[in-house]
Amino acid sequence: MKKSVFCLILFSAAMALFAGCGEQQSSSLPESQSAAVGTSQAASETSGAEEQDSSSTPAVDDPFAAAAGYRTENAARYADYAAENPDLTTQQVVSYVNIGLDTPFYSGVETIADPDNLLVLCNKYHQLPNGYEPSDLVQISSANSNGGKTLYLRAEAAAAFEQLCAGAAADGYTILGQSGYRSYSYQEQLYNNYVARDGQATADTYSARPGFSEHQTGLAMDICNGTLSYTEFGQTAEYEWAKEHLHEYGFVLHYLPGTEQITGYMTEEWHIRYVGVETATRIHELGITLDEYCATYLE
Ligand code: DAL
Ligand code: ZN
Repeated sequence: MKKSVFCLILFSAAMALFAGCGEQQSSSLPESQSAAVGTSQAASETSGAEEQDSSSTPAVDDPFAAAAGYRTENAARYADYAAENPDLTTQQVVSYVNIGLDTPFYSGVETIADPDNLLVLCNKYHQLPNGYEPSDLVQISSANSNGGKTLYLRAEAAAAFEQLCAGAAADGYTILGQSGYRSYSYQEQLYNNYVARDGQATADTYSARPGFSEHQTGLAMDICNGTLSYTEFGQTAEYEWAKEHLHEYGFVLHYLPGTEQITGYMTEEWHIRYVGVETATRIHELGITLDEYCATYLE
């Protein structure tokens, strides 16, 4: 079974807030691209009465061929990217190139074909279709929303979020929603305000351009503990709990420290994404980003 996916990269830096929903900022680094080439299928032509030794055929000498997610059409790009990034493992090279990290963010952007898929990857290389709005948005209970504000998630994610909050409470922790589903127009408003305030380069490190925000999928939620600002969630005991238990409820932290150059956004310890328990558990165990997971194990 397969699903479609999507991917991307770069940046890191400061921070900011905005009435209601928040975000932050950072710095960055881009990249270049290269063309894809088919792999070697050692399909040698035999002329005359020449006989081929079958044992020496395919000779797949591509060092990346054994990596998960290897795509023959990306062979040349793997080689180029590895040469430019000698410290990466072959697995990282394959996953990163599949994501598109050998090309600049917001380049070669594709429109997501199945935005309702729970494993949808909305990033700087894949945008939601024009006018996309989930059809099954459900309001989160006010008890699990910071200040009782009105927040929405898609039905399955909303139910899982309520379970998450209850599970945290059972262990003595408080997890509340701060920002859930955002429409295209609301994200546009947020992003434009950040650009006006900090400039586009900086805004791009902490805010998604309209159509590119995971919040528009209805599967992402920014969380807080009800005491500190959501931007300080990484300093809370709840964050420590969340890192170990989110996957049990089907959520993953999408923008963890150290992943800025993969996701293209600064660290956001407060931003969680619903993918279902099975996938969340696998991602948690692998210790990789959703972007890497999709680019390596899906499609
Ligand atoms: N702050 C996240 C990246 C967003 O704007 O969706
Ligand atoms: Zn968020």
